[in-house]
Amino acid sequence: MKHLLKLMDLSGNEISGILDLADQLKYELKHNIEHRCLEGKTLGMIFEKASTRTRISFEVGMYQLGGLPIFLSARDMQIGRGEPVQDTARVLSRYLNGIMIRTFKQSEVEALARDGSIPVINGLTDFAHPCQVLADLMTIREHRGALDGLKMCFIGDGNNMMNSLIVGGLKMKMEVAVACPKDYRPAAEVLDFAQAYPAFSMTTDPLEAAVGADVVITDVWASMGEEEEASKRRIAFNGYQINDKVMAAAKPDAMVLHCLPAHRGEEITADVFEQHSSEIFEEAENRLHAQKAVLVKLLG
Ligand code: CP
Ligand code: NVA
Repeated sequence: MKHLLKLMDLSGNEISGILDLADQLKYELKHNIEHRCLEGKTLGMIFEKASTRTRISFEVGMYQLGGLPIFLSARDMQIGRGEPVQDTARVLSRYLNGIMIRTFKQSEVEALARDGSIPVINGLTDFAHPCQVLADLMTIREHRGALDGLKMCFIGDGNNMMNSLIVGGLKMKMEVAVACPKDYRPAAEVLDFAQAYPAFSMTTDPLEAAVGADVVITDVWASMGEEEEASKRRIAFNGYQINDKVMAAAKPDAMVLHCLPAHRGEEITADVFEQHSSEIFEEAENRLHAQKAVLVKLLG
């Protein structure tokens, strides 16, 4: 594993290896065991979009591992004024040990990896959110002991989260059922990948997808960069909500996850959110542990 660009690039064993290390690092942190294996290492973190969890968990994670995180707002970099990504990649490769980038196009992240000579981590693109889904898989495994054979249901937009959950869930031998309006399906590349798995299904009916689910997941209806479509999307996604009806279709002890930030009353009701807040905030915490595992694997 040289980079973390998308989960499609990883094998099930590689994902399991990251989750095992994440569990170990979480245990060590809780027991005050230091793990400063990135002493002297630097991580540049380029943000072209807003972030709370990703920025802070990467900064804290690098600090806890003994390394130095450097926050780089794309607005303040020459890349924001049109300097080509190929040149940025070659320059940053001479200063840093790794790059984390949050941007719009997946192709930009892939170009950074191709043209640079240091590990690149995708901190979210319009196509994928692999760091989040590693934390999600970690949280499910923590609660259920194993992933194999569990049913994951995602209700909502065929966005970066749906794309990455489909790939991550199927690679970890889960059953994956998604429900989305027909104009908001996951990426064609992800559907091509998923069609080979009998454990994958897609429907326009949220209740059908939720039947017997062990974990029910959703995300915002309008992602970053889609703010202008918010009112159109509110109409298109009407009914694609995690609520009591959906939870009644799932298993009685089903978990609920949400990558956050959440819009109560849109993709999830306030009641369901609060009933499952311990899982949702554990999921947010696990960003830290899962990303530390990725950093150790790539930079260690
Ligand atoms: N879930 C997530 O990636 O959160 P941020 O946008 O706050 O980083
Ligand atoms: N789909 C959302 C996820 C935010 C963490 C977005 O891209 O804005």
